[in-house]
Amino acid sequence: MYIRHLSLTNFRNYGRLELNLEPGVTIFHGDNAQGKTNLLEAVFYLATSRSPQVEQDSQLINWTADESGEPVIVGRLVARLESSDGAHQVEIRLIKEQGSFRREALVDQRKVRLMDLLGNLRAVLFLPQDMQIITGPPVDRRRYMDITLCQVDQLYCRHLSMYNKVLEQRNALLRQIGETGSGRDLLPVYTDKLVHLGSQLLWRRARFMAGVARFAQRIHYESLTEQNEVLRLGYLPHLEAGNGKLNNGDDEESGDSLLVLSEWLEQTGSSSLVEKRFMRAIAAATEIDIQRGRTTLGPHRDDWKFWVNGRDLRHFGSRGQQRSAMLALKLAEIHWITEQTGDTPIILLDEVMSELDNRRRTLLLNTVQQVPQALMTSTDLNMFEAPFIQKATTITIAKGQARPDRQIT
Ligand SMILES: Nc1ncnc2c1ncn2[C@@H]1O[C@H](COP(=O)(O)OP(=O)(O)OP(=O)(O)O)[C@@H](O)[C@H]1O
Ligand SMILES: [Mg+2]
Repeated sequence: MYIRHLSLTNFRNYGRLELNLEPGVTIFHGDNAQGKTNLLEAVFYLATSRSPQVEQDSQLINWTADESGEPVIVGRLVARLESSDGAHQVEIRLIKEQGSFRREALVDQRKVRLMDLLGNLRAVLFLPQDMQIITGPPVDRRRYMDITLCQVDQLYCRHLSMYNKVLEQRNALLRQIGETGSGRDLLPVYTDKLVHLGSQLLWRRARFMAGVARFAQRIHYESLTEQNEVLRLGYLPHLEAGNGKLNNGDDEESGDSLLVLSEWLEQTGSSSLVEKRFMRAIAAATEIDIQRGRTTLGPHRDDWKFWVNGRDLRHFGSRGQQRSAMLALKLAEIHWITEQTGDTPIILLDEVMSELDNRRRTLLLNTVQQVPQALMTSTDLNMFEAPFIQKATTITIAKGQARPDRQIT
């Protein structure tokens, strides 16, 4: 798929932008702080409804508009795109009205739930800070997994959102039982719902990880390490007790038992078997849950891990090895999304070239040239070789304005 036209109003440092785009490679270049990353963020936001940068989406609204004192401020992002099933338009509105903030989503100019916007535009984003996925806390890895899965599987996204709500309700009830002793009779209602939704997440995550791992391992082995290093990705589902230490990443023994569990999840053809197993475990953890005032088991505590030649990459990998694994993961994500949807996602590359050595850079640039559309940023066009630049569209970004270096038709 590719974007034909991007329109931004009051988004970040763009007051107003109308930008035609072409298939193939486009490089946004310009000085620091001009709006290059903001452009890629806008595309990623339309694909995922999430910003990789801010916690509060209201921060995405242009400051000047926000401070204008108008009663209603609207930030608007619109992309017209071509995908395997024809032309579509996706839109997100960020609305600030009398101190409150809300978002609206539209597909082909019809209002939809934000969740139903996902899957229309798909993008894979490469950021310099991606290494967090390997080195950061489990929450970063869960977030990555959820964002990727949501672009491909609407049902997963719906289950995830319902799961999070039920989890909050169950935790509130657990605290109430702990504090006042009342409400125990209600607990099975929430536990049932949690187990049902949670099992769906566990099951789908296991399949996702297995699918991505296969691609990542091959890319890593064949194209990144001259068949010297074997990358393994392992999903660590938190559906049974006894693996509390694992999320610290140090307990190899319980790690192995979780991997067995993840293999079992992947191979289990029916989610009702997962439900049974999860239910048994969560029932056994009831008293601990009440004591702690929170649900101790479930996909909200999942993690996954990288190994290279059998060693935990987070603890023992060099920076370069971590970078290769990250690149393999992202390239695998492109393959996996394409395999699942029949449509190649748009690739977004933010300043990642400068971090890579020649071999990795070549691999990435080859990939970029093979996909329907890749949008990249750079402060320095000299970073690229002349033939690459000649084939690409280059656009200068300055102070929230975009100026194509050659005329785009
Ligand atoms: N909500 C907002 N309203 C207006 N301006 C904003 C908003 N959020 C961020 N900015 C500004 O947008 C500018 C451009 O940011 P961006 O990260 O896109 O720059 P860049 O071109 O990628 O720069 P670099 O080369 O340093 O990465 C920054 O100066 C930032 O202060
Ligand atoms: Mg930037």
